[in-house]
Amino acid sequence: MRILELDNIHAYYGDSHVIQGLSLYVDKGEAVSIIGRNGVGKTTTLRSIMGLTPPAQGTIKINGEDSTKWTTNKVVTKGHVAYIPAERHIFPGVTVEENLRIAERKSKKNDQWNLDLIYNKFPILAERRKQDGATLSGGEQQMLAIGRGLMSNPSIMILDEPSQGLAPLIVETVVDTIKQLCKDQTLTLILVEQNYHVAMDLASRHYLMEIKGKIACDMSSQECQEDLDKLIKHLGV
Ligand SMILES: Nc1ncnc2c1ncn2[C@@H]1O[C@H](COP(=O)(O)OP(=O)(O)OP(=O)(O)O)[C@@H](O)[C@H]1O
Ligand SMILES: [Mg+2]
Repeated sequence: MRILELDNIHAYYGDSHVIQGLSLYVDKGEAVSIIGRNGVGKTTTLRSIMGLTPPAQGTIKINGEDSTKWTTNKVVTKGHVAYIPAERHIFPGVTVEENLRIAERKSKKNDQWNLDLIYNKFPILAERRKQDGATLSGGEQQMLAIGRGLMSNPSIMILDEPSQGLAPLIVETVVDTIKQLCKDQTLTLILVEQNYHVAMDLASRHYLMEIKGKIACDMSSQECQEDLDKLIKHLGV
């Protein structure tokens, strides 16, 4: 079942036509990545889904419902989507705990996240609960951003470059955490990554994006593995 569908979307910043006819889909419980070089439109695609840069043309459907014109708030509350931007947007001047509480949203489901469960999953956040969120290390901030996303009890989690700026060992921890969250396939994951090792580790299907949001193809992790040259050439690494 399709949980997310983008059909021929076009997005602009002012006069700049940055996404020119992008289509993709994600099935419920799937983990999908979007990979491509700098500036091809990966973040803009995520922003379009979130209603932050709504598409001028085309349709977006969440759970089969047309969400193209939904506000960001509606995408979060009705679409059950959590977005973790690359910049993480930890609120400065408030504690780790307040950062988590701000996002709390009770769900009717039994499997809902709460502060205790988050602290259980991320002991480092429990240790630092009284600390100003802005003073955490990069890896800790990423954990906090993910924890905060989970507090809204999402069905879809969207992560923009979770490995960006983190040391390899910390990337491993973050990857392990995300993997665990997706293990039972109740959470759908959409991931943007330039680190293709991380993308292949976390997602099972990968959209290769070219300039202006053009999708060259989608490949399974196995196909990527068998054709690493194509992937590396695509990423220009
Ligand atoms: N606020 C903005 N105003 C004008 N142009 C923008 C804005 N944000 C992004 N762009 C442009 O839109 C295009 C797509 O940007 P986007 O951030 O979606 O790319 P990206 O694939 O996420 O890149 P990166 O890998 O560097 O994060 C780029 O050419 C970028 O310069
Ligand atoms: Mg980006």
